[in-house]
Amino acid sequence: MARVIDGKALAAKVRQEIADEVAALKLRGIVPGLAVILVGDDPASEVYVRGKQRACEEVGIYSRILRLPATTSQEKLLSLIYELNTDPAIHGILVQLPVPEEIDPAVIQAAIAVEKDVDGFHPASIGRLWAGERSFVPCTPLGIMRMLEEYDVKLQGKKAVVVGRSNIVGKPMAALLLQQNATVTICHSRTENLADECRSADVLVVAIGRPKFIPGNWIKPGAVVIDVGINRVEGRLVGDVDYEGASAVAEMITPVPGGVGPMTIAMLLANTVQGARNLAG
Ligand code: GUN
Repeated sequence: MARVIDGKALAAKVRQEIADEVAALKLRGIVPGLAVILVGDDPASEVYVRGKQRACEEVGIYSRILRLPATTSQEKLLSLIYELNTDPAIHGILVQLPVPEEIDPAVIQAAIAVEKDVDGFHPASIGRLWAGERSFVPCTPLGIMRMLEEYDVKLQGKKAVVVGRSNIVGKPMAALLLQQNATVTICHSRTENLADECRSADVLVVAIGRPKFIPGNWIKPGAVVIDVGINRVEGRLVGDVDYEGASAVAEMITPVPGGVGPMTIAMLLANTVQGARNLAG
């Protein structure tokens, strides 16, 4: 049976580290601040935003949740972002996705000051990440890299396969694995022979949002499996990987829930503290 990568426990450890850093910053008169903007009333987003708020409180980060109606215009949202860009109490700005259809997320992401771009979605952050320069890194892939490091997973020269090509997970994940000298393949819904691609992976990261899409017989014996999926099926949360099947052949695997999810919020806190440190000089 595969060793379970305990994201919940690791996230708790990371949050403790962050709480210590926040306490040290406060001695210098700096209180890290995060602004979260939620447009509309998507119930899943509401749950995520409340989770972020609670996590901030726990570690001593100041959080400001800004709830706007679904009818908010792009111009109104932009002017709010411009205000936050120059607000000295705010070191990180996050617009919860998805936004209503009338709003272009690319325009919104580009409007956030790159020094406060704790999501890492600004085009300059994306470019810096691929160029190997210092930048904010999107929270989910950053959390996965921390898990791989903590569990001593070797990446150099290894075959890493990322299933899913989103801007939030798949693409930045590939950039980070490449930075660590893995040989990276990005797969997606149009990939031919996806099963064979997956079977070639020493490290398999799956972020496609389809419950139990990857069966156990697509996993290379001894592989490390990272399941980013959070799908609600008959009132239960399941990942994109068939956990029972995969854990019979993998060396390590992340559970759902309790794997990648808790790490994502912990990394948002880490990025906010990073923002405060950068802006403090
Ligand atoms: N919606 C789902 N995941 C994310 C995320 O990482 N950041 C933002 N802003 N919205 C999301």
